[in-house]
Amino acid sequence: MILTIIGNGSMARSLALGLEKQYDIEIVARDAQKAKEALKDLQKSVEIIPLKGVSIERKNILLCVKPNALLDVATHLQGEADMLISILAGVDIETLERNILSDYTIRAMPNIAAEFNVATTTLTGSKEKKDEALSIFESIGDAFWVDSEKELDIATAIAGSGPAFLSLVAEAMMDGGVKQGLKRDMSMQLVRSLFKGFGPLIQSEHPALIKDRVMSPAGTTAAGYSALEDGKVRDGFIKAIEKSFKKTQKS
Ligand SMILES: NC(=O)c1ccc[n+]([C@@H]2O[C@H](COP(=O)([O-])OP(=O)(O)OC[C@H]3O[C@@H](n4cnc5c(N)ncnc54)[C@H](OP(=O)(O)O)[C@@H]3O)[C@@H](O)[C@H]2O)c1
Repeated sequence: MILTIIGNGSMARSLALGLEKQYDIEIVARDAQKAKEALKDLQKSVEIIPLKGVSIERKNILLCVKPNALLDVATHLQGEADMLISILAGVDIETLERNILSDYTIRAMPNIAAEFNVATTTLTGSKEKKDEALSIFESIGDAFWVDSEKELDIATAIAGSGPAFLSLVAEAMMDGGVKQGLKRDMSMQLVRSLFKGFGPLIQSEHPALIKDRVMSPAGTTAAGYSALEDGKVRDGFIKAIEKSFKKTQKS
């Protein structure tokens, strides 16, 4: 299968790096030079097709431009795609169908971990293409089908925005170590290693149980944990998911 990626930004690049291992890829871009530069790390050489007047006839399209670029991009596309997969946050299927002709339309919400083949992607849309679309994204990580666009928009807040939220945690922990006198480089190595080790832990146990195993009575973790509750960190994360979800509804 050939996948035609429209766009050459951060997500297009991450997806191309992950997908090129199993799929043939072509890129549609408005600025060929910029696209070439952005995609220089790809192993395979990919064709870069100018956006203006590009034919999408019978193609499998992966739309990776900014949500507000949809109308502009759509004016350049000719023909009817076989399958359109859009990763545009907050752009619903009705809007996609109104602007781009395609037999089947699917929304996917991957994250930047695609580049390392460990993306988390949620999908919804034309059920006829469910298996095909899932298998594309399973080739670059975990992929989950949800039954409604609302669920996909909530998942966008968790998994799409999630790398940014977890980066805040990582950076704050690093800064905390530095504040207490640890060298920054060591603080960073420790946090990176912590996240690596936490991966298998969270896969095998509920987070509340992991916390209970670490937190001994009147111990060091309990002291730190109560500072997190004082700082309303839990509430902050719940509100972050809410705000990100609500933002998808306003796009
Ligand atoms: N970043 C994430 O973690 C993430 C996760 C999930 C989903 N998404 C979704 O992925 C999409 C792309 O995000 P991104 O982070 O990759 O953004 P980005 O790095 O800013 O890339 C945006 C892309 O859109 C193109 N574009 C913008 N306006 C255009 C126009 N009028 N006509 C043609 N092309 C236009 C840009 O082309 P030029 O390079 O020529 O400007 C560029 O290729 C967004 O819809 C976002 O909602 C992002």
